[in-house]
Amino acid sequence: MKQITDILQLKELTSQYRSEGRSIGFVPTMGFLHEGHLTLVEKARQENDIVVMSIFVNPAQFGPGEDYEAYPRDLNRDAKLAEQAGADLLFTPSATDMYKGAQNVAVHVKRRTDVLCGRSRTGHFDGVATVLTKFFNLIKPNRAYFGLKDAQQAAVVDGLIEDFFMDIELVAVDTVREEDGLAKSSRNVNLSAAERKEAPMIYKALQKGAELIRDGERNPEEVVKAVTGIIENTSGVIDYVELYAYPELTPIETLNGKIILACAVQFSKARLIDNIIIDIDEWERS
Ligand code: PAF
Repeated sequence: MKQITDILQLKELTSQYRSEGRSIGFVPTMGFLHEGHLTLVEKARQENDIVVMSIFVNPAQFGPGEDYEAYPRDLNRDAKLAEQAGADLLFTPSATDMYKGAQNVAVHVKRRTDVLCGRSRTGHFDGVATVLTKFFNLIKPNRAYFGLKDAQQAAVVDGLIEDFFMDIELVAVDTVREEDGLAKSSRNVNLSAAERKEAPMIYKALQKGAELIRDGERNPEEVVKAVTGIIENTSGVIDYVELYAYPELTPIETLNGKIILACAVQFSKARLIDNIIIDIDEWERS
């Protein structure tokens, strides 16, 4: 695996790969890699000739009170993991190179951001879309890989690629889970032993919601009520349980088509998010 920090070198290498007819899969990350990221690399490895991973803690997506400085960083460990998972090229630019001088343009995301986690993180997805536009322009990947644990981010990227006519296939990869169903997350280590026991209830609650839909419930409020009722049995405080059309993230009166049922729950030192995406029409056909 090659590890580089230089933007010009990245452009030269990726344009060489393209001119040799090699397909490029891109896995953007902010580092401190966990199994979720490595699954994205493995999937990219299967589907592309070259796998490029970026590690860049993007200042533009952190709000004023958020932890940009404190965000965990361990580049040596990450580089080993990225190589083991099958990355060919690891790009780790500096913030001053990525945002050289006064910036003339930033991307503003107009839809899909005023719900779920975006509601409380003003400007976050503008920062994500801006940095991804930079990376996509530099690397020009054939495919870009995102985990569905952050399904709102995947929805925003879907909109970015569509509206800006980017010639990139978005590959959204299923959430990686522990054996008891808890979505894998670097935040899980902040759960107390008692909370760790309760936390799988979140996915069980979402599955109960999905089961109600499969059994014919088409009123979103009833599904949200049932999921909320189950999560309320934990010591976590519910931030939201919401249900929308996916990837549009618009409200629906009667459940149909592709939907997302998502929640965020605050435990004492960890805020956990999870979701289930269901294609109801497909279920009805099967
Ligand atoms: O999901 C992340 O880690 C970041 O939002 C991303 C996509 C790497 C952009 O900085």
